[in-house]
Amino acid sequence: MAHTTKIRKCLFPAAGYGTRFLPATKAMPKEMLPIVSKPLIQYGVEEALEAGMNQIGFIVGRGKRAIADHFDNNYELEHQIKGTSKEKYLDDIRKVMDKCEFVFMRQREMLGLGHAILTGEPMIGNEPFAVVLADDLCAAPSDGDHMRALGQLAALYDRYQCSIIAIEEVPPEETGSYGIISGEEIAPGIYQVHDMVEKPKPEDAPTNMAIIGRYVLTPEIFNYLRNTKPGANGEVQITDALKALAQDRQVLAVKFKGRRFDCGSVDGFIEATNYYYENVYKKEAKA
Ligand code: UTP
Repeated sequence: MAHTTKIRKCLFPAAGYGTRFLPATKAMPKEMLPIVSKPLIQYGVEEALEAGMNQIGFIVGRGKRAIADHFDNNYELEHQIKGTSKEKYLDDIRKVMDKCEFVFMRQREMLGLGHAILTGEPMIGNEPFAVVLADDLCAAPSDGDHMRALGQLAALYDRYQCSIIAIEEVPPEETGSYGIISGEEIAPGIYQVHDMVEKPKPEDAPTNMAIIGRYVLTPEIFNYLRNTKPGANGEVQITDALKALAQDRQVLAVKFKGRRFDCGSVDGFIEATNYYYENVYKKEAKA
């Protein structure tokens, strides 16, 4: 089946517990942690909007109401700062709120990323869609010529009309933290996926090309997810479903341009904070 529609919808799985950031994430979602003064999830939604997607679906669990509140009006606050110099701090979030529609879906049990994506099926229906894991923060490429990672995937989808995942070369000793792909390079930086392994030990990893949290998926993935058995830790892995899909259809993996920060880990979070402070915040403050 060829999918010719442009991608309009983007899912944000955000139901995980964020245990690596406890106690900060005890009562607050990991996705609301700020990089400088903007929460991770807002960076993700802005990236989706840049890529042409304005129907935003959040997969949330218990204790994630702050995400819904963030993308809604706060009349009291807005009234308080109206007409003051502080109003500009709300410009970006207002833009996002004006341009996007938001849907919230509950994942009742944390049965893995694959299961979280399947929870979004009623909103997606039968069209291609994107998935963003907001704790992977993708910065704009410094050349100024390219969109962030999701926009690059969407542009490739226009050309190839198949599922496309973002990959990055990681140090070989870190393969155990990622899904790892192997495949054939069909164009510079674009691979036809042959195989995928979830979190292999360095000695078992076929390559060091790691899947990061940006995906464009065709809707047949839902059937593959339904047929995917939970892995060793009881979670339904998106990697297993994609591996099965890759055996039947073309799945591409793309080395995107621009830096990615793993903000689900403390080291990556600090790196991102420093990077955004130096390269974005200070420049905007001067402007
Ligand atoms: P992670 O593996 O980073 O798990 O999930 P986590 O719970 O967020 O964080 P740690 O490892 O405990 O610190 C990857 C992404 O998948 C989502 C998470 O919210 C995160 O965006 N996820 C994971 C779900 O939405 N549901 C799940 O059942 C599992």
